[in-house]
Order: sequence, then C-alpha cells, then structure tokens
Amino acid sequence: MAAADISLSRPLLQRKEISSSSFLPQKSVKFNFKRSNAKKDFRLPKISCSVSPSQTETPTAAPDITLTPEGNKKECFGVFCLTYDLKEEEKPKSWRKLIKVAVSGAAGMISNHLLFKIASGEVFGQDQPVALNLLGSERSFSALEGVAMELEDSLYPLLREVSIGVDPYDVFRDADWALLIGAKPRGPGMERANLLDINGKIFAEQGKALNAVASQNVKVIVVGNPCNTNALICLKNAPNIPPKNFHALTRLDENRAKCQLALKAGVFYDNVSNMTIWGNHSTTQVPDFVNAKIHGIPVPKIITDTKWLEEEFTEKVQKRGGVLIKKWGRSSAASTAVSIVDAVKSLVIPTPPGDWFSSGVYTTGNPYGIAEDLIFSMPCRSKGDGDYELATDVLINDFLRERIKKSEDELLAEKRCVAHLIGEGNGYCELPGDTTLPGEQ
Ligand code: LMR
Repeated sequence: MAAADISLSRPLLQRKEISSSSFLPQKSVKFNFKRSNAKKDFRLPKISCSVSPSQTETPTAAPDITLTPEGNKKECFGVFCLTYDLKEEEKPKSWRKLIKVAVSGAAGMISNHLLFKIASGEVFGQDQPVALNLLGSERSFSALEGVAMELEDSLYPLLREVSIGVDPYDVFRDADWALLIGAKPRGPGMERANLLDINGKIFAEQGKALNAVASQNVKVIVVGNPCNTNALICLKNAPNIPPKNFHALTRLDENRAKCQLALKAGVFYDNVSNMTIWGNHSTTQVPDFVNAKIHGIPVPKIITDTKWLEEEFTEKVQKRGGVLIKKWGRSSAASTAVSIVDAVKSLVIPTPPGDWFSSGVYTTGNPYGIAEDLIFSMPCRSKGDGDYELATDVLINDFLRERIKKSEDELLAEKRCVAHLIGEGNGYCELPGDTTLPGEQ
C-alpha cells in the first residue's frame, strides 16, 4: 500500500481526493510544506517537494493509494498527492548518495538554464540523484514557485527533492554545493563602491549561513558580480569551511577566450586547451594566450599575429559580456549557465592529462607571486574529487606579469573597499577608475 506522505497546512493548496490509478511512474513523490519559525520577522514559507525511491516492494501494476487517516489528513498538491512504489527490479541500485545543491538567484535567467541541466544529470552524472534547494527573494517568490512547478512537470528521475525559500539559513542546510548566482545588478548612477557594498552584504550573510548550516565541505561557486570579491567576502564569513572550497566563476571568460582563439586559428574550439584567465572577472582580466595551446602547440606558434593576440583578442574577451548586453539587452544567461556546468564538471571529473581549467580561487600559497588572501583566477587541475591543485607548469612572461599586476591591484582595491565586511576594519574605497565588470561598459 502506498500513502500520500504530505505535510502540511497551506491554506492556498487544494485538498484533493485521491483514487487509485493505473498510472505507475517509477518513483515515489511527496510534497512537504512547512513554515519556518527560526526568525521572528516575517518570511515567506519554505516549500519542499521531494521525490524519493520507495522502500516498499509492490509487484502489482496499480498501487493502492490512500489518504492518511482522518485527523492526520494532509494537504497535497497535484502529482505530489501520490506515492508510487517501485518494483524491486526497478530500484536504482547503482545510484550514488543524494547530494544537495543550493542555488541562489534561482528565479533568474541564469538559473532557469542551469537548474534543468542539473536535474537532468548533465552536471553531476547520470547516477547521481540530486536535491535542489532554491533561494529567492520575497519579491521573486511567486516566480520561484513557477520554477519549482516546471521542475515538477519535467519528471526528471534524478531530481529527488526540490525546496524553495527566502532564508539562506533554511535553504543552505546540509548543502554539498552552493551555486551563488543571485546579486543586485548595478543600477543607473550607482557607484561601483555602492555595488560592492550592497552585494557584499548579501554575500557576507550567505557566507555566515553556509558556515552555520551547510556541509562543512560544501563547494561554493560565486557567480553574482563582482564575483571575485563576493567570493572573498563569503569565504571570510565562513571560517568553518576550507578557503579552498570557494570559487569565483571565470569559466565563462575561459570559454569566450577559447572561442576567439579557435575562430582566429580556423579550428574547432575543442582543439584549444590550457586556457587560463588570470585575475578578476572584470575588464582587467588576463586571457593568457602565452600558455594556451591549439592542437597541443603553444598558441603564439599557431597565431603569429602578436598584435592581434595582445590587443584585439585580449580586449574582445575582457569586454565580451558588455558587448553581449548591448546586442541582447541583458546579461549573458545561457552561456553563463553552461560555464557553471563546466566549472562544476571540472571539479567532479578528472582534468584531462596536461590540460587545466580556470577558476577564481584563494591565492594564499600560490606559486605565481600573486598577493595572498585574494580570490584570483588561476590555472587549476582536479582529480575529480571536488578539490583542485594549481598548475605549476606555466610560464609568466613580462607581458602577462604586467597585466596580472593590474588585475591584482584592482582586487586589492576592492578588498580595501569591503574591509568592513571581512573583519578588517573600515572599508575605504579608491577604485581604479578605468576598470569595470564585463557588463558595465
Ligand atoms: C558577463 O561576463 O557576461 C557578465 O558578468 C556581465 C555582467 O556584468 O553581468
């Protein structure tokens, strides 16, 4: 017998009588609703829908479905009113232990591309069940419900749970991964220092929440801009989590750089490897054509137009985000989501021998002479265990060194600007005027 396992009491949910059905999906589903009382201030409800393998053997074609006894009768919603039993042979024995993936900015455009990739198994693998814990704002809560509904309707077998909420202390609980996408965009007339402060406060809060409730080995990828400094703020507010676990997304820049080199050399982009982005996800970033390879050969031996490499290529990559905004009217979303997928896969799949990938990571102990205690994009290699090592077989020539220094100076200035958010006294903002986020030009 299978019973709807549903709790509880949401006035706007409809009570639905359930009868047995001949339809037999291969998973059990449940929908939970609970109002969190952790804080006194008003917060929107946390909704959790969970889909989990049944423990019960039911060899019959049509399961019995009953409501729980009167007095303990539970509210339910659509498909989540039904519990389905798996046949013994249908149980997914080879599946790995469920992982929890928290995503902030979950009602936004980037997430709308990303969540369905995660749910499909494209990111963590076809044997990896996932729970999606989605963080939104009070303003976006209705849209977040819509996203959860679309996830329901997609019937992804690997998607075992979906929960939505507006409190990071709820949403980040036990998270194995935190993909932090949500951030305020820079509004008209807003100073860069204001943006750092507004978003910095969000990431300080989220760092504290991760520290308090997430898995102590949670891997954090910060996407919301300015992502390097936001990642540093998050890290500094999460002292229980290893600093190595924090990343700022520069994989989109790496992908953009690979595409431009492939175009210039007339090869498909899978032939471009060892592409490093050094520094900040801003117009000071350094796309490193010196160490990049095409067909395993250093790029300067294939593309001999040094002026193009140093000027046109470099600027194209640095400003690609801004050019895209001008064309499309909004920030990159699909390609950002793809690059988040790439960034995660780079950590859960071993790096191909000899190659590396770019990620904004903690500089302390770096072998390149870059200032310590920053989040800086550098070349990394992973064994596929979620961790990484910095690549040491790189050549930093004068051209690179000079430009890397400029990005380092910018990040040091950003860090001084958010000193009040990282426990280093009063913030003091004096930012280099000529540098911007890729989307700000
Ligand atoms: C991008 O690189 O496309 C974005 O970071 C641009 C932006 O500022 O949103």
